[in-house]
Amino acid sequence: MILVTGGTGLVGAHLLYHLIKNEEKVRVIYRSEEKIEKVKEVFSFYGDAASFMNNIEWFKADITDVPAMIPAFLGIKKVYHCAAFISFNPKDYREMRKVNIHGTAIIVNLSIAAKIHKICFVGSIASIGNSLNGGVITEDNEWNSQEDNSGYSITKLGAEMEIWRASQEGVSVVIVNPGIILGSSFWNTGSGKLFYRVYNGFKYYTEGITGFVGVKDVVKSMVLLMNSEIENERFILVSENKSFKEIFFLIAVAFGKKPPSKKIKSWQTEFFWRISSLLSRFTGNAPFLTKYSARSAHSISKYSSQKIEKSLNFQFEKIEDVVQEVCENYRNNVPQ
Ligand SMILES: NC(=O)c1ccc[n+]([C@@H]2O[C@H](COP(=O)([O-])OP(=O)(O)OC[C@H]3O[C@@H](n4cnc5c(N)ncnc54)[C@H](OP(=O)(O)O)[C@@H]3O)[C@@H](O)[C@H]2O)c1
Repeated sequence: MILVTGGTGLVGAHLLYHLIKNEEKVRVIYRSEEKIEKVKEVFSFYGDAASFMNNIEWFKADITDVPAMIPAFLGIKKVYHCAAFISFNPKDYREMRKVNIHGTAIIVNLSIAAKIHKICFVGSIASIGNSLNGGVITEDNEWNSQEDNSGYSITKLGAEMEIWRASQEGVSVVIVNPGIILGSSFWNTGSGKLFYRVYNGFKYYTEGITGFVGVKDVVKSMVLLMNSEIENERFILVSENKSFKEIFFLIAVAFGKKPPSKKIKSWQTEFFWRISSLLSRFTGNAPFLTKYSARSAHSISKYSSQKIEKSLNFQFEKIEDVVQEVCENYRNNVPQ
């Protein structure tokens, strides 16, 4: 049997569909019944949601709760660890350390104890070092602790370190490091907000460049890596490097809407994240823009996925096609 953490998130839910379609038996960690509805929504994009839902063994636990997690490993041979806390709000740093680093350490310890055959861990390009000379970033780029790294980046690297510890203790591991993942559902969190904003007439764009990948390619490569002989390797998953302007344009065209036309300059986002941080101190609400989201909107980082393309003979879906499909699903299911 397979254990999946984060099954109620974007990657996990699409992964569950892929695993169940291949007749795998899955046990899925969840925290609230309400989030199970999101999985149903994702399955509905693929077709028959109800029959697929019946093939899941749900297991209620928080990954940071050791006693609750111990029985989840009974009879498990493979683990897909997708759970994480994603935030660029500095206030969330402590909680991110708990979930991302400590939570992963618990998954690793229980995997060692349960003699798990293989773990597939979802890392991020955020835990891969930047290029010093503007060159294309590969899996070998070293992470620079002297840079002003975001809490998310630090904790994703910490989690990866825990996964490498598993490989030292005899558990096979594979790590995927996806770029920004585009996929259907979860419209009010993460990359889902890009679709929500453009659909609702968002006017602004920036020219920062980063790597993008479709969620279907992420889960497909995870399953291929898990079922391959490959072990103890990390793989960047990026279909194409694109500017936010290009992505907004593709989304707008797919929706038949006017593309964002007002360019935001870097000094403007620098100003707004400071205002936002100040306001958040007075109101107690999460900032509408953080320092790290402001800076990543302008930074230029290009990634190479040659390693996975060569290792698995893998071909990524074009981002234009991914956007087209996600927009179609959005239009058929416009969030209220
Ligand atoms: N989305 C992206 O663009 C992107 C890009 C690169 C890498 N990644 C990585 O991909 C992975 C999946 O991301 P995603 O986009 O699917 O995130 P997501 O939609 O925010 O889902 C996160 C999942 O983690 C679970 N989780 C969080 N804290 C937990 C805890 N303490 N105990 C148990 N479960 C917990 C959540 O459960 P609840 O539903 O109960 O909250 C949810 O199922 C993450 O590791 C992320 O770092 C994402």
